Amino acid sequence: MTDELRNSGALKIEWVKEHMPVLGELARRLRHTKPFTKMKVAICLHLEAKTAYMAQVIKDGGAEVAICGSNPLSTQDDVALALAESGVTVNAKYDASPEEYESHLARTLKIEPNLIIDDGADLVSLLHTEYAHLLPAVRGGAEETTTGVLRLQAMEEEGALKIPMLAVNDAYCKYLFDNRYGTGQSVFDGILRTTNLLVAGKKVVVVGYGWCGKGVAMRAQGLGAQVIICEINPIKALEAAMEGYQVMEMEQAAAEGDIFITVTGGKGVINVDALERLKDGAILANAGHFDIEIDVVGLEKMAHTQRTVRKNIVEYDIGGKKIYLLAAGRLVNLAAADGHPAEIMDMAFALQVSALLYLQKNKLPAKVLPLPPEIDEQVAELKLTAMGIKIDRLDEEQKKYLTSWQRE
Ligand code: ADE
Repeated sequence: MTDELRNSGALKIEWVKEHMPVLGELARRLRHTKPFTKMKVAICLHLEAKTAYMAQVIKDGGAEVAICGSNPLSTQDDVALALAESGVTVNAKYDASPEEYESHLARTLKIEPNLIIDDGADLVSLLHTEYAHLLPAVRGGAEETTTGVLRLQAMEEEGALKIPMLAVNDAYCKYLFDNRYGTGQSVFDGILRTTNLLVAGKKVVVVGYGWCGKGVAMRAQGLGAQVIICEINPIKALEAAMEGYQVMEMEQAAAEGDIFITVTGGKGVINVDALERLKDGAILANAGHFDIEIDVVGLEKMAHTQRTVRKNIVEYDIGGKKIYLLAAGRLVNLAAADGHPAEIMDMAFALQVSALLYLQKNKLPAKVLPLPPEIDEQVAELKLTAMGIKIDRLDEEQKKYLTSWQRE
């Protein structure tokens, strides 16, 4: 069984490696130069194959690496086992209890890291509280996701942040591709694998029209759904309306939708009031970082009965209506599928590795900082090369024209 599991994990890692050429190019460079020699790197990310490959790249660059999962349902045990056998310290398992999840974070910090990669800021938050004595050795970290960047900014505002944190999420090569095309595709990957139902002709309610919401809405429309957007920001709501989507309050959308996808980063966006208004057969899925966007506790209290009807689908009977919750309200694309496509994580993780190199070379202030634009551009250039795409370049005269103000 263990052999089978290890082989399955190793094959998954091999598969994604073939589809992550930018990270592959960085890996080649790192293997020669070993820039992370004597460095200890603590990682908290969704532990699936793409993440495992990145952890191996960092290790091959000379680092000692410890990793934990950033969500109890996104860890893939076969991948975790294969990664552990390749020399990375792995503290993660699928369906970890809240206590196990906490102990995995703590064990990962016990490596006494110099560099950190976080997804959602749980690791950095723990580092600043119970493990604050380890802070002096930390050069800095990099944060993967919107939710994590918001939490770090809150820490900075309170004066609590003690290390530089690079907001990898805010790089163009991250949010334009990962948040939009990555989430757009992987969310439907999760929903389709789980339900095996048709999207065409259904009303899909996307709650939140940030970059992730944009991607989800775009793919829902591409699959033939009538798309409804719920959004609290007037500019984003207007953008959604001009994109041709119906925009309305949750109160109305709740009674109309067939499939709901929350992607706000907030909490209680499908609350008990909305749950009461749902149609019989409504399907609920979450694609925001934490499992608090749909009020699952409220749903459980309302339900007369509940039962698992397919893997990752729980049916709740609320007063004769059946409501279906996917993946326990956790990230549907990671808990019920494999996360974003490899070609997308190729860019996100190339940015992460570049961020670590940058942190190592530069002494930075204890703030939430943007990734330098040169790193973003380098990743875009490498990706274009890998895709066999050539682009035009400005000649000297054109450059001069674009940087002068006088009329010709
Ligand atoms: N795979 C690993 N990390 C991921 C993330 N943050 N989002 C989607 N897929 C992932």
